[in-house]
Amino acid sequence: MSSPTSRGALISFEGGEGAGKSTVIAAAVAALQAQGLALCQVREPGGTIIGEAIREVLLKPEHRGLHAETELLLMMASRAQLVRERILPALAKGEWVIADRFTDASFAYQGGGRGIESGRIAELERWAAGLQPDLSFLLDLPVADGLKRASGRSAPDRIESESAVFFERVRSAYRQRAAQQPARWCVIDASQSAEAVAMEVTAALLRFVSARCERAT
Ligand SMILES: Nc1ncnc2c1ncn2[C@@H]1O[C@H](COP(=O)(O)OP(=O)(O)OP(=O)(O)O)[C@@H](O)[C@H]1O
Ligand SMILES: [Mg+2]
Repeated sequence: MSSPTSRGALISFEGGEGAGKSTVIAAAVAALQAQGLALCQVREPGGTIIGEAIREVLLKPEHRGLHAETELLLMMASRAQLVRERILPALAKGEWVIADRFTDASFAYQGGGRGIESGRIAELERWAAGLQPDLSFLLDLPVADGLKRASGRSAPDRIESESAVFFERVRSAYRQRAAQQPARWCVIDASQSAEAVAMEVTAALLRFVSARCERAT
């Protein structure tokens, strides 16, 4: 599903709450910029004006009554807008798109977490997103460790307020997805120090970039 004409690529970072996605993305972006690559950084849900408005609906703690199906469709709506407004234009320009979560998060949260059948999500993935990342990092660590890391931040949003059992299901869905498509995934032990995680991710990224640039020449 990835765009065959682009020189850049779509690279996503996935993992549970507090796994260290934002932290490692900062290091990854610096490493790619040091290579002189043009980047486009996006986050989900959101990343566009319309998507950020959808994000508010999704994450407001008062929206406890949101049904799983509504949640999935809103996530996909935000993603559909992000793909068309930012990701495809960036890839067409040959940029490298760094995504803080993408459709795999729906397989993990709405699939694993909420129990929506994965075939339904795959259908929406094909139609609403229309592309898959070229490379995905899974920052994997025990749920309790991630929640502890995340607990130092502002008041939890609606999804962050879920139970540990919910996040265990999310974690196992992520791991299952990575195991199903090993060529696309790079699973990182995110319980390591931030420096060790950044080094491992950066090394894998630079290998991927040089292989892709070789193929493009
Ligand atoms: N490898 C690490 N070891 C210890 N602490 C870390 C590590 N990586 C990140 N942290 C810290 O853990 C907290 C959560 O990290 P970060 O915000 O990067 O996670 P995240 O995956 O982006 O979370 P969210 O899913 O909520 O966006 C931050 O305070 C960060 O400084
Ligand atoms: Mg983050």
